[in-house]
Amino acid sequence: MLAVAILAAGKGTRMVSSLPKVLHKLSEKTLLCRVIDTCIGLNPDKIYVVVGHKSNMIKESLSDHEHIKKINFILQEPQLGTGHAVQILSKEMNNFKGNLLILNGDVPLIKKQSLKKLIQTHESNYSDATLITSLQNNPFGYGRVFIKDNLIEEIIEEKDCNTKEKKNKLINAGIYCFDSNKLFNVINKLEANNKQKEIYLTDTIRFLKKSIAFQIKNNDEIQGINNRIDLAKCEEIMQRSIKEKHMLNGVTFINPESSSISEDAEIGLDVIIESNSHIRGCSKISNNCNIGPNSYIKDSIIKENTTIKNSTILNSEVMENVCIGPYSHIRPGCSISSGSKVGNFVEIKNSSISQSVKINHLSYVGDSVVGKFTNIGAGTITANFDGVNKHITSIGDKCNIGSNTVLIAPVNIEDSVTTGAGSVINKNVEKNSLAISRPKQVNIKNWKK
Ligand code: UD1
Ligand code: CA
Repeated sequence: MLAVAILAAGKGTRMVSSLPKVLHKLSEKTLLCRVIDTCIGLNPDKIYVVVGHKSNMIKESLSDHEHIKKINFILQEPQLGTGHAVQILSKEMNNFKGNLLILNGDVPLIKKQSLKKLIQTHESNYSDATLITSLQNNPFGYGRVFIKDNLIEEIIEEKDCNTKEKKNKLINAGIYCFDSNKLFNVINKLEANNKQKEIYLTDTIRFLKKSIAFQIKNNDEIQGINNRIDLAKCEEIMQRSIKEKHMLNGVTFINPESSSISEDAEIGLDVIIESNSHIRGCSKISNNCNIGPNSYIKDSIIKENTTIKNSTILNSEVMENVCIGPYSHIRPGCSISSGSKVGNFVEIKNSSISQSVKINHLSYVGDSVVGKFTNIGAGTITANFDGVNKHITSIGDKCNIGSNTVLIAPVNIEDSVTTGAGSVINKNVEKNSLAISRPKQVNIKNWKK
């Protein structure tokens, strides 16, 4: 039997935040959610999350998690330390017998494979407790692990270490596998005899006969987060590994440090990501696209050979051979078909743009359908909002919408229509017509001021 308990009740004072520490995000996902997702990969029989500080906010953050039904929340109130958290947990788990994996909720990069090895080491050594340790050049802030004859004798927290003890570079990662029986037998012996006046989980080692270390090689996995410097370190570790994966799969980054890519993004062969470009959410970029510089793409699909410069694209689909930007804003709900060009300072929202359309300069196109081979002149806007409702503008194929046309929706422009520059169009236009609505120019000769 395997139970998992994640400690997430602390405030995270050192984050200096109104958000509980475990709700801070790393590559778009909260720290807590990362630890939960990794543990779910182990297929545990039970999963507990100890909550306390802003517990409702934490529960709420997980309310649409796909495995929410498997998660048991344990309330620790007040929060008197990691040992106290497990004391409360033990009361809820009294019938459980087996391996109990305990993880600090603020160590988000641990890999499933390492947890498996931890459990294997624990089982093959028949130990009471097995914990992940690592050697750190700068062990500051971590509990130091003292080993004699291959057994851990004790763990001393940074704040309780004397100068000599502080020199020990073997640290406790905050991830443990316990024999639940053995742990629960000693858990109530803990006292808050230390500088922080907290009940430390790490003190259980003093009462257990056989505690051993599972020393991890990759220190990146156990980087704990106590403050925002640690948070940035973890983000950097994650981003480096995501981008390296893409580079090895045929993606070029012009200036990798300046770009960020979500874990779930898919990027095709020979895509070039230029400086300061960000691909977020579940975006999919197909082969040979050129993204950036300075672009932000979220939850969008971009097909082959498309170029996106200095632009933002949200929740939209852009087909092959399209050029977007510089400085375009493609808002949610757009589909832009192959061969189209969306240019400088153009905003498009909830619209379907057919093939080979040009919207090159200074336009707003919202709630619209634009037919193929249509040219939307500079400065054209769709007036889609009457103050209460949004309306649709429909423009046919091969139209020529003159510069600075205002299309007052709802309005239907059929195929092959031309509108005169500067026209305000609020009536439907039949196909092959010229629609023009603007005062005639009057020239007054020899006019005197
Ligand atoms: C802890 C370990 C330390 C280890 C480090 C690794 C103890 C006493 N020390 O120190 O040896 O090197 O993690 O990252 O365990 N929490 C609760 N209830 C509480 C207090 C904390 O659930 O009453 C949770 C926090 O939300 C957090 C985790 O436990 O997720 C660790 O707490 P934190 O205060 O950050 O412990 P550290 O000082 O980092
Ligand atoms: Ca910590």
